[in-house]
Amino acid sequence: MAFKPILLKYCTDNPDTSVDYYLFHGGYIAAEKTLDMPRSDVIEEVKKSGLRGRGGAGFPTGVKWGFVPKGVLPTYLVCNADESEPGTCKDRQLLSGDPHALIEGIIIACWAICANQAFIYIRGEMGPEAKVLEKAIDEARRKGFLGDKIFGKNFSLEITITRGGGAYICGEETSQLTSIEGNRGYPRLKPPFPAVQGLWSQPTIINNVETLMNLPHIMNNGGEWYRGFGTEKSPGFKVFSVSGHVNKPGNYEVPLGVRLDELINDYAGGPLNDIPLKAIIPGGSSVPVLTKKDFDVELDYESVAERGSMLGSGAVIVMNENVCMVSAILNLIRFYHHESCGQCTPCREGTGWLEKIIHRIAKGKGRMEDLDLLENIGNNMVGNTVCVLADAAVMPVQSFLKKFRHEFEYFIENKKSMVENPIN
Ligand SMILES: Cc1cc2nc3c(=O)[nH]c(=O)nc-3n(C[C@H](O)[C@H](O)[C@H](O)COP(=O)(O)O)c2cc1C
Ligand code: SF4
Repeated sequence: MAFKPILLKYCTDNPDTSVDYYLFHGGYIAAEKTLDMPRSDVIEEVKKSGLRGRGGAGFPTGVKWGFVPKGVLPTYLVCNADESEPGTCKDRQLLSGDPHALIEGIIIACWAICANQAFIYIRGEMGPEAKVLEKAIDEARRKGFLGDKIFGKNFSLEITITRGGGAYICGEETSQLTSIEGNRGYPRLKPPFPAVQGLWSQPTIINNVETLMNLPHIMNNGGEWYRGFGTEKSPGFKVFSVSGHVNKPGNYEVPLGVRLDELINDYAGGPLNDIPLKAIIPGGSSVPVLTKKDFDVELDYESVAERGSMLGSGAVIVMNENVCMVSAILNLIRFYHHESCGQCTPCREGTGWLEKIIHRIAKGKGRMEDLDLLENIGNNMVGNTVCVLADAAVMPVQSFLKKFRHEFEYFIENKKSMVENPIN
């Protein structure tokens, strides 16, 4: 049975994003109520809900907030709206369709971690969406929900929008902080983690757009209510971005634990033109690919990990039998090579070599030993860099090689794709 969207409820094709409409359907009640609660109770409620970060890693939100040291001020909140993971397009729809829900979530998080200043780091390409947010922030300020003594209480909060410059790496939390500080967006080594030493070396919580937009619902209805959705270890609901060879690509909100084949068939309209599917990447381009035998996997953090992949950002990329897997992985590795910030040698050089070798195979000039070489280069990259972009580049390559090795071997032997008339 179709799930009735909660986060996407008001994110229609032509949404009313005014503060009056948001107030009309019960907006800002949760924030006002939360400001009357002790901060520790708010953190406990979010811990009780089991909400896990929706930016990719799935780390429990309340637990992360609990790492902020008490009494070290100022503290900051950063809303990660950089959304650049190939296949992911949920935050864009969420923040432009229901901007006040994001602002309300930010107010709740800022109260919990004692932050009087929040930043929304929005992807550079999202110009119109940034304007929607600017307008909403302005309206909220005029209503007294932002600025000095919000809701007439002894708490002040400002939200500043920071526009990204189009670099994928600035979605990674530490490079995002460096970028907000006005420097080139290079990731930093962890520890120290941002919750302890983040923006300008002060405690900083970074949360994804979707994570924050869950908060008004949790504070209105309680952590127990939230736990009523999803699975025991992956509670709640999640927006999945389904793209590729389906009849109805788009964002779909479902309880965690829904089956992948159910998402494809019942929500996304099934395989495009009834052409059988070959492979699905379940969580954004950085995660290992799944084959047919795993299409019945339940979409929660644990079940996807058991099948050797990750839920990631929830971007489900669907590929049918007409896709040549050599061309598909060339497309992906080109992206990672281009987006490597260049700070670490294994990533800067490794992504380049992976691209060069796969490109050579795709041009019909590959050698059989290239397959082991690709494996070897990948093994030397994983775990040897400042951030995990290098791992994110290697995981899809190694999984394509493992699961579709016959396509690579065929290409090398025959100097052409195994797929007749490939579409990519
Ligand atoms: C290369 C790279 C890119 C990332 N891009 C994003 C992004 O666009 N949006 C996002 O929310 N998280 C992104 N992340 C994850 C963030 O580093 C961080 O874990 C997340 O914003 C934390 O929020 P959450 O706890 O609410 O998930 C990225 C991570 C890496 C390594
Ligand atoms: S792993 Fe790559 S993207 Fe990350 S810091 Fe090193 S060079 Fe930059």
